[in-house]
Amino acid sequence: MKVLVVGSGGREHALAWKISQSPLVEKIWCAPGNAGMASLAECVDIKAEDMEALADFASRQGVDLTVVGPEAPLVAGIADVFRERGLALFGPDRRAALMEGSKHFAKRLMLEAGVPTGRAEVFTDYEEAAECVRRSGPPYVVKADGLAAGKGVVIARDERAAYEALRACFLERKFGEAGDRVLIEEFLSGQEVSVLSFVDGEEILPLAPAQDYKRVGDGDTGPNTGGMGSYSPVPLMSEEDYRRVVEEILRPTAKAMVSRGIHYRGILYAGLILTEEGPKVLEFNVRFGDPETQAVLPRLKSDIVTAMLATLEGGLSDIDLEWSEESCVTVVVASGGYPGEYRRGYAIEGLQEAGSLEGVTIFHAGTKLGADGSVLTDGGRVLNVSALGRDFREAREKAYRAVERIRFQDMYYRKDIALRVVDMA
Ligand SMILES: Nc1ncnc2c1ncn2[C@@H]1O[C@H](COP(=O)(O)OP(=O)(O)O)[C@@H](O)[C@H]1O
Ligand SMILES: [Mg+2]
Repeated sequence: MKVLVVGSGGREHALAWKISQSPLVEKIWCAPGNAGMASLAECVDIKAEDMEALADFASRQGVDLTVVGPEAPLVAGIADVFRERGLALFGPDRRAALMEGSKHFAKRLMLEAGVPTGRAEVFTDYEEAAECVRRSGPPYVVKADGLAAGKGVVIARDERAAYEALRACFLERKFGEAGDRVLIEEFLSGQEVSVLSFVDGEEILPLAPAQDYKRVGDGDTGPNTGGMGSYSPVPLMSEEDYRRVVEEILRPTAKAMVSRGIHYRGILYAGLILTEEGPKVLEFNVRFGDPETQAVLPRLKSDIVTAMLATLEGGLSDIDLEWSEESCVTVVVASGGYPGEYRRGYAIEGLQEAGSLEGVTIFHAGTKLGADGSVLTDGGRVLNVSALGRDFREAREKAYRAVERIRFQDMYYRKDIALRVVDMA
């Protein structure tokens, strides 16, 4: 089989890495890919958003399966473009991708299906939303309805901050159309966990849970980022909670989509909070999580391509995924200054040595090849260092030992990834 992976981050490198282990696969292209992906695939210079060019490429090269990493092309309808041309693509079509593309759409579906989630009200106007803030109490959760690259949610500690978030959406139109509708949601407290599942209509095949770290600083301080680390499995989540996520959240959500005439094909990502009343949904995403995927896939023993094909062709519920007993910890190595301003183009040293340590896999997130073949930084998040160990203590030690072998100018990483579970399972 010939496979095309769309995207250029650590998630896509992890996907290409796992796909390359499938006995079914003989050739992989990545578009546009990065320096790490170039070592196991051929990178082609087509942007993830350029749907027609990607479909032209897939059809010209006889690609048998296209796997899309990021949400933007899915929400824009890349699956529809491919399917109209008879090309197999792993990922939901435009209507199904509304599960991520519109928080209001997802919330309505959850309420109708009785899926546990925070209460919310939706507004299209500043004054009415401000009135809602006035009659409720802090903290206020203000969410832009549409895609906002992870910047559309504000947890406001006081009224002033809530008004400011509303002003950014409605008056400054900071997110364009994505902020024309705003949800004000009940604040939920508890541990945050992600559970992803293959979904084909009503059939689901859930993956092992993961936890990610969104804030830039140790101890969950500082601004939000695309993710500074992750680990899997999640010992903070009981087996009973996991079962409830599958039976009370994933399965009814898949059913509710089908009853609306939506045939979902791909990965559905449930972002959850483990509240005192049980797991509740924060949001859905319509693709693999980044950096959760980098901690989940190293533990997956089964062939991912078989599961992807079953998602498209049927038979998902006949598949059993086999997992390693080991724990996986992923540390994101970033450019100093991220998520604010940072510089690109610094040479990265020690990659070979770090990557050859036992149990360690390095996924590239923002890198490019220099003219002399050296690897250069090319993004805010540069590398994802994943390590497997018998327990979290060992996985952490291995991951950080590898991180310490890596050097580049202004390199930054969190030191507390998976620390909270180090004494658990
Ligand atoms: N209702 C809520 N209660 C508490 N925290 C929330 C709530 N909704 C979102 N958050 C926090 O904000 C983050 C971003 O929200 P999310 O709904 O995942 O949107 P997005 O990923 O699109 O930015 C979450 O990861 C979570 O930490
Ligand atoms: Mg989220």
